[in-house]
Amino acid sequence: MDKERRLIIAGNWKSNKTVAEALDLVSGLKRELATVTEADIVICPPYTALDAVSKAIFDSPLRLGAQNLSDQAYGAFTGEIAPGMLRDLSVRYVILGHSERRQFQSESDALVARKAANAHANNLVPIVCVGETLVEREAGITEKVVGTQVRGSLAGLTVEQVEQTVLAYEPVWAIGTGKTASSAQAQEVHAFIRSVISSLHGEATGRRVRIQYGGSVKPGNARELLGQPDVDGALVGGASLEVRNFADIIKNTLQSPA
Ligand code: PGA
Repeated sequence: MDKERRLIIAGNWKSNKTVAEALDLVSGLKRELATVTEADIVICPPYTALDAVSKAIFDSPLRLGAQNLSDQAYGAFTGEIAPGMLRDLSVRYVILGHSERRQFQSESDALVARKAANAHANNLVPIVCVGETLVEREAGITEKVVGTQVRGSLAGLTVEQVEQTVLAYEPVWAIGTGKTASSAQAQEVHAFIRSVISSLHGEATGRRVRIQYGGSVKPGNARELLGQPDVDGALVGGASLEVRNFADIIKNTLQSPA
């Protein structure tokens, strides 16, 4: 697939997989994806499996991501993970502001922005998630909600940092529900997000920033979704937990037209 921006496809394992299960999944992914060079492929295991997975993927095209990060450095912050700890394990990406954290841990845009700044200050690439609920979509306020999240979650970042940030548009109603946004719905919101970035930081930054789609991405719908002009990748939950599904999402997306 020929795209203006390099595709980034990430698997968000959420709170799943023991170390043994994680290594099993990784060995299958390494086998299936050994030769993929046309896209950034990122896997985001739980913290407890990061060390083992990091060692297992060092000789593969797979890159490592975490699912959360403290907004602080090292210190007296019980239960938190500082950026230096992730760097120590060769983690490159970190998912921030996932809707499950916004909903169940009450994460605000301001907190997500502090975490994103902490990630950038330590050479981690944040994947910042935004997205509206079903009630918000039905009320016709998707752009208002998503625009506020984008502005708030990137507040205080420099232009260079915004350009290096990956955004993930994940409509809450499509996460884990089997309901995918249509490619037209996804494209519409992605183009809107890009216009928000352009109005804040200039056209060039808007053009360069990568925006993933997330929400029930599967082998059967990935190519169509990722074929949209402003969709630069996918953040995959459920379908990233199984070798065949995740590998097929990537292969189906990247294959040349028949
Ligand atoms: P899903 O999750 O693919 O299971 O819908 C996506 C996500 O939450 O990142």
